[in-house]
Amino acid sequence: MTWCLPGCPTNLLAVPGLETPPLAMGGDDRMGGDRVFSFEHVPVMPEEVIHYLEPRPGKTILDSTLGGAGHAAKILQAGAALIGLDQDPNALSHAEERLKEYGNAVVLKQINFAQMLNVGSEICPEGVDGILMDLGVSSHQLDCADRGFSLRHQGPLDMRMNPAEGVDAAEVINEWDEADLARIFWELGEERKSRAVAGAIVRRRGVKPFRDTLDLADCVSQIVGRRGRIHPATRVFQALRMTVNREMESLEAALESAPALLKPGGRIAVITFHSLEDRMVKRFFKSRSQPEIDRPEWPAARSNPDFCMSRVTRRPAIPRSEEVRTNPRARSAKLRVAEKRKVVVS
Ligand SMILES: C[S@@+](CC[C@H](N)C(=O)[O-])C[C@H]1O[C@@H](n2cnc3c(N)ncnc32)[C@H](O)[C@@H]1O
Repeated sequence: MTWCLPGCPTNLLAVPGLETPPLAMGGDDRMGGDRVFSFEHVPVMPEEVIHYLEPRPGKTILDSTLGGAGHAAKILQAGAALIGLDQDPNALSHAEERLKEYGNAVVLKQINFAQMLNVGSEICPEGVDGILMDLGVSSHQLDCADRGFSLRHQGPLDMRMNPAEGVDAAEVINEWDEADLARIFWELGEERKSRAVAGAIVRRRGVKPFRDTLDLADCVSQIVGRRGRIHPATRVFQALRMTVNREMESLEAALESAPALLKPGGRIAVITFHSLEDRMVKRFFKSRSQPEIDRPEWPAARSNPDFCMSRVTRRPAIPRSEEVRTNPRARSAKLRVAEKRKVVVS
């Protein structure tokens, strides 16, 4: 779902003077079941993000995961211009409303960040000074039962961040092979009882297909049982969400395109909440920041053709205990930052 400025050839949303469609101005939010003004999301590690991206007048920062626009607002308050992306039309509507006071300093677009290179070079051909990726879903998406992300509220088994694209969670749960379900529960959810859960789902769907979130959460809970404080179906829901939204594939594509989008000296900051994502970011930054590569089968080290960045954070930054206390969602966050080299040796 995209909205165009009258006469605008693309679906870019420049905030000033925008003739905003009713949904974007906080009308009945049919996807969320509440009004877009009630968007709740506390940004994670906001001071650290500002510290590393150093937004200021004359700089352009691309926030590829606008969400509730908490980080975006701080970037704009510091005087930088902002290109804001989100694949969720609901998040974009909210961000448009929240950021309208910044006028021409903001350009918003509904798109998957896997395509950020096309968008960024179209809007800012000279490159951007910073890229922010704050992965996963927003608290608002989790809280809106109609989106199907929540295992505590009854809703349709959907889980698509962009409800107009791709297959929904019901299709994965009701159609996929048992072995494929077990694999995603194991690989993406790190669920120890992945095979037993997949088996129970396949048996149950043979009687009656799954349609809603609580139905699935109950079936999974009966197999997994409660351990600790987290809901027994948390890992399976996480794996499903990551599958439905192709989250690992999108992250990989976005990381690959980041160096070409950054100006020399520009920085990329990535906040992850999942060990697989953090590992991907860590490996990517390492692979781009080594001048040479050495392999056991080679007689000598060779120069690295991908060498174009340096790591700003060797170890990931993590939230302070005070932040975790006030915003428990931050507890598993890891922030890694890398900088595009000023002189790239060819
Ligand atoms: C954790 S929230 C971001 C919160 C935001 N930083 C803030 O301060 O409010 C993640 C957002 O990224 C969006 N998102 C996740 N994956 C995406 C992707 N591949 N492309 C575009 N947006 C994505 C989600 O729809 C969600 O709104």
